[in-house]
Amino acid sequence: MSVPPVTQSGAHWAARSRAAVWHPCTQMKEHERTPLVTIARACGAWLYDCDGRRYLDAVGSWWVNLFGHANPRINAALAAQLADLEHVMLAGFTHRPVIELSERIAALAPAGLAHAFYASDGASATEIALKMSFHYWRQHGERSKDRYVRLAGGYHGETVGALSVTDVALFRDAYGPLLRAQPVLPSPAVHASIDDAAAQTATDDALAALAQFLAGHAATTAALIVEPLVQGARGMAMYAPRYLATARELTRRHGVHLIADEIMTGFGRTGTMFACEQAAVVPDFLCLSKGITGGYLPLSCVLTTDDVYAAFYDDDVTRGFLHSHSYTGNALACRAALAVLDIFRDDDVIVANRAKAARWHRMAAPLAAHRRVQAFRQCGMIVAFDVDGAGDGFGRAFAAEALRRELVLRPIGRTVYFMPPYTLTDDEFALLVERTCEALDAS
Ligand SMILES: Cc1ncc(COP(=O)(O)O)c(C=O)c1O
Repeated sequence: MSVPPVTQSGAHWAARSRAAVWHPCTQMKEHERTPLVTIARACGAWLYDCDGRRYLDAVGSWWVNLFGHANPRINAALAAQLADLEHVMLAGFTHRPVIELSERIAALAPAGLAHAFYASDGASATEIALKMSFHYWRQHGERSKDRYVRLAGGYHGETVGALSVTDVALFRDAYGPLLRAQPVLPSPAVHASIDDAAAQTATDDALAALAQFLAGHAATTAALIVEPLVQGARGMAMYAPRYLATARELTRRHGVHLIADEIMTGFGRTGTMFACEQAAVVPDFLCLSKGITGGYLPLSCVLTTDDVYAAFYDDDVTRGFLHSHSYTGNALACRAALAVLDIFRDDDVIVANRAKAARWHRMAAPLAAHRRVQAFRQCGMIVAFDVDGAGDGFGRAFAAEALRRELVLRPIGRTVYFMPPYTLTDDEFALLVERTCEALDAS
C-alpha cells in the first residue's frame, strides 16, 4: 500500500536540513537566525517554497540556469534519454550524446578546439586544464614550466588546485598552507563600465604587467588563466576584449598557454556564445560548465587543440592523460546539454538576446538612477552595480529584503547583480528592477 504524501511546512524541512545537510559556502550557524528557504518546485524563472511563496531566480541558481526551471524541451530530452541510457563509464565506452555534444560544442567554439575532455563541475574543469597544460610541457621536455600565472581577484573554483589559481582571500586564506604560491598579476577588470577612462587605464596597466612578467618568467610558466571579459566572483568586474586579444598574442609569443575559464561566461552570458569570440581569441584550453546543461545536471568540459591532444597521443600508456571522474561524460547530462544547444539554434537565442539585453539596459534606467547605485554596468545578459553606503553585513541584509520582495539576489560585497534565465519576460524584468529599488531603499 502506498503512503500518501505528507505536506510539511518549510520550517519543518529547514530544521531537518540544518540537522542533516552541510550547506555549501555557508556559515551554518547563521541559519539559527536566517531560515533556509525550502524549495518544493520551480517553473520558468520562479522558485516556489513549501509554504506556497514564490521567488524570482534573478541569479540563475548560481549562474547555471539559462532557459528557466522545468523547461519542457529539456525535460522531454531527459525523459527520452532515460529510456535509453542513463550512464556508462567513458573509458573504453562511448555513446551518442557525448559524441554529438563534443562535435557540436567544437563547431560553436573558437576554431581549432576539437577535443573535449569531460568532468562534472567547474573546479574539475579548471584542474583538468591546469594538469593538461603542465603535462603538455613535460611531454615536450620543458620540465621547469610548473607555475601558472593568474589575475588579481580571479576565481576558478575551490578544489585545492583550482584554489591555488583563485585570488579571493575569503576562500583561500584558511587553506593557505596547502596552496602552492602562484604569481598574481594586476587585473584589467574594474567595477565600472568598460568605456570609462579608469577601465582603459586598468587594461593598459594590466597588459604592461603581463608583458613584463612574461619577458622574465615564461620559462617557468605553463599557463595564464583568465575569466574572459567578466570576473564574476570579484563582483562582476568587467574588462574590454582588447586585454584578451593582446594577452593571447603575448602568451603565444612567449610560449605560455592561455586557459580561458568560461565556466560562468560561456553559453551566451556576455552576449556572444563564448566571451573569447569578442576578442577573436582561440585559447589553448576552454573550460565550460554551469550553463552547459541549462542548469539541469552537473557537467563540465575542457576543449583543447590538436597540438595539445597530439602531445598525449602515443604507444606509451603513461604518456596519456590519465585523469578521470566516475561520471565523466554522463549520458543524461550530455543529453540535457544537447537540448540546450537545440534551443540556442532553434530560437536563435544569441540574436534574440542582443535585443533583450538592450531592452534590459533601458528598463534598468530607474535602477541606474537610484541614489545608492554606483558603477552601473552590463555585459550582455549580466547586469551589475555597486551600492553606496554598503557596510559590513550589507549582503545578508539586502538579500533578506530582496527575498521579502520575492527576489533571489546574492550580493558579492557591495555589488548587486542580475544573471537571470534568458527566458525572463519583460514584465518579470520590470518587477525585478522595481523591487530591487525597494530593497535598496529598505536595506
Ligand atoms: C569562472 C568560474 N570558474 C570556476 C568556477 C567553479 O565552478 P564549480 O562551482 O562548478 O566548481 C566558477 C563558479 O562560480 C566560476 O565562476
